[in-house]
Amino acid sequence: MATAQSSKQSSNQGQSAVPTMPALARALPRVEDEIRALATSSSLPIVNTFSGRITAAGGKRLRSVLILSGSLAVAGTITDKAVTAAACVELLHAGSLVHDDLMDNAEERRGVRTVNADWGPGPAVLVGDFMLARASQAALDRISPFAASRLARTVAELVEGQVLEVMDLYDAHRTPDNALRSIELKTGALFEVGCVLAAHCADADEETTTAMARFGGLFGVMFQILDDLLDLASTAQRLGKPVGNDIRQGVYTFPLLRALTDDQRTLLARRGRDLSDAELTGLLAELRQTSLVADTLAHCTSLAARAVRALPDLPDSEALGILRELPGAYLDWAASRIA
Ligand code: IPE
Ligand code: IPE
Ligand code: MG
Ligand code: MG
Repeated sequence: MATAQSSKQSSNQGQSAVPTMPALARALPRVEDEIRALATSSSLPIVNTFSGRITAAGGKRLRSVLILSGSLAVAGTITDKAVTAAACVELLHAGSLVHDDLMDNAEERRGVRTVNADWGPGPAVLVGDFMLARASQAALDRISPFAASRLARTVAELVEGQVLEVMDLYDAHRTPDNALRSIELKTGALFEVGCVLAAHCADADEETTTAMARFGGLFGVMFQILDDLLDLASTAQRLGKPVGNDIRQGVYTFPLLRALTDDQRTLLARRGRDLSDAELTGLLAELRQTSLVADTLAHCTSLAARAVRALPDLPDSEALGILRELPGAYLDWAASRIA
């Protein structure tokens, strides 16, 4: 398996996060061209500099592979509209990361400095807004009003997911279900819309589209739970980004909330905002001694299986094989990053 697009996060040695096949390898450079054109389409060079920097820095392009293989599995070909849909979803994703990095005060993403770190919070809001707006605009101009409407709706869902997260910050009594609701919206919705657009660009019927949506939603939730687990159980060296950030930022995630003992919950309730480096290191070390990793991986294995079972009934093809393989391949990649 080869990684769709190299990035600091995905280029660490070992297996790759995203399986591919020749038809995808040929289409991905077209997606890159469209992403680049969209990200640098402002009349203001300064906007293009910052929007172009995060998109040029890569990322795993997991959502692109999902959309291209989805469209190929349904229609037997990758249409121009499917390529545009992949570019729009990647642009929307990158714009949401610009905002997320501002909220998290992050200095680096995909191995490059963030907009907030280099240019400040106001510009990060604006550059992220520009990227989100261009994604829906391109979908309207080049795909369909339906595609534009679904993407715009996804931006609203992403915002709602982040709002739910913000409302629960530093709440040691947040329930796992509340964390789940937030990630269904902040991450599941984007995977879901990617699959919906893949079906739409392949002229799929309603039943196929609904099944693809369900696959994407479940995959997205699994993906975010693994990202949350890596923040607790990986190392900065393996991940290419610091670990323990979620606890430090007060984001008590699904795997954490399921694993906390009463004493650990009390520690977070008392010390959450003022947690020292030593307390955080101690908490992470304790958590790694528990069944946190095994339980979370088991939960994600079951989510991956549910996602694959939700796939529509399509003729056998290499692309369908990629769709079936993607959740498990990502799960294995994440498991290989655990310390
Ligand atoms: C990061 O997504 C944000 C989350 C939803 C956890 P990715 O891990 O797919 O980021 P890139 O695109 O590879 O940089
Ligand atoms: C992803 O969540 C953010 C969005 C869905 C916008 P995270 O906050 O977990 O992503 P990372 O860990 O910073 O990549
Ligand atoms: Mg973040
Ligand atoms: Mg994270």
